[in-house]
Amino acid sequence: MEPQEALEGYSRSAGQYDQLIEFYFRRLLRINDVTYRSEAVDMLGLKEGDRVADIGCGTGLNFEHVLRKIGASGRLVGLDYTPAMLERAEARARSQGWSNVRLVRGDAQKASDLLQGPFDAVLSTFCMSLVPSPKTVFREVARVLRPQGRFAVCDAQQIVPKGPLGLLAPVVRPAVAFVLRKYGQSNPEADYGRPRPWKTMLTDVFDGVNFEERYWGILFIASGVRRGDEKAS
Ligand SMILES: C[S@@+](CC[C@H](N)C(=O)[O-])C[C@H]1O[C@@H](n2cnc3c(N)ncnc32)[C@H](O)[C@@H]1O
Repeated sequence: MEPQEALEGYSRSAGQYDQLIEFYFRRLLRINDVTYRSEAVDMLGLKEGDRVADIGCGTGLNFEHVLRKIGASGRLVGLDYTPAMLERAEARARSQGWSNVRLVRGDAQKASDLLQGPFDAVLSTFCMSLVPSPKTVFREVARVLRPQGRFAVCDAQQIVPKGPLGLLAPVVRPAVAFVLRKYGQSNPEADYGRPRPWKTMLTDVFDGVNFEERYWGILFIASGVRRGDEKAS
C-alpha cells in the first residue's frame, strides 16, 4: 500500500479505529491485540527513562504499554502518516496527561529524516505490512537506534491460519477482507497477509532476531538488536 492510499483509508476510519479494533479484532476474530502489543513491548527490554519511537503509531494504542515501562522520565515519539490518526493519538495523550509523548507526521520509509535519535528502542505494530518497502523502514530504524538498541515488530504475515485450520480459508478470507476494508484497505490481501520474507528482512538488518508466530501463524512478533558500530546499510 502506497502511503497515499494508507492516508486516504485511515483518514476515513480514524474516528472509528479503536471501536473497530474492539469489535472486530477482540470480539469477533478473537485476536487479543492487547497481549500481542505488550509481548512486543516486553521484547524491547525497556527501563525507566528510555527513549522510544512507535512507527505507524496510529491512535496510540501502544502508548500505555510503553509508558508503563519507561515512566514519566522516559520519552515516547509516535510517527504516523495519517494526520487524522495522529489527532486521535494526541487526544489520547492529552486526556491521560502524558506530557512526555510527542507526535510526528510522515512516512516511515523516511524515519531517519523525521525522528531525532538515538532511541533506546523502536516499536511498530500492524503498520509494516502496509508500507511498500518494510526493509527500507528497518534500515531507517537501525539509523535512529543507538548501538544495541532494540526493535520489535508485530504484524500479519498471512491472511489464513496455518495447518488444518487453513481449510477454513473460503470463510476466513472474505471475512478478514471485509474487516480490513473497514480499516480503509482497498486490497487487503495485497497488504496485510501479503507473503513477505519477514524474518530474512529483519535478519539482514538486525542481530539476534527472535521471530515468533501467533494466532495460528497469521501474526508474527519479532525483535532484533541494532548492530554494534556497523553502519546500517
Ligand atoms: C492498522 S494501523 C496500526 C496503528 C497502531 N500501530 C496500532 O497497532 O493500532 C496502521 C497505521 O499505519 C499508518 N501508516 C501506513 N503507512 C504508513 C507509512 N508509510 N508511514 C507511516 N505510517 C503509516 C497508518 O496511517 C495507520 O495509522
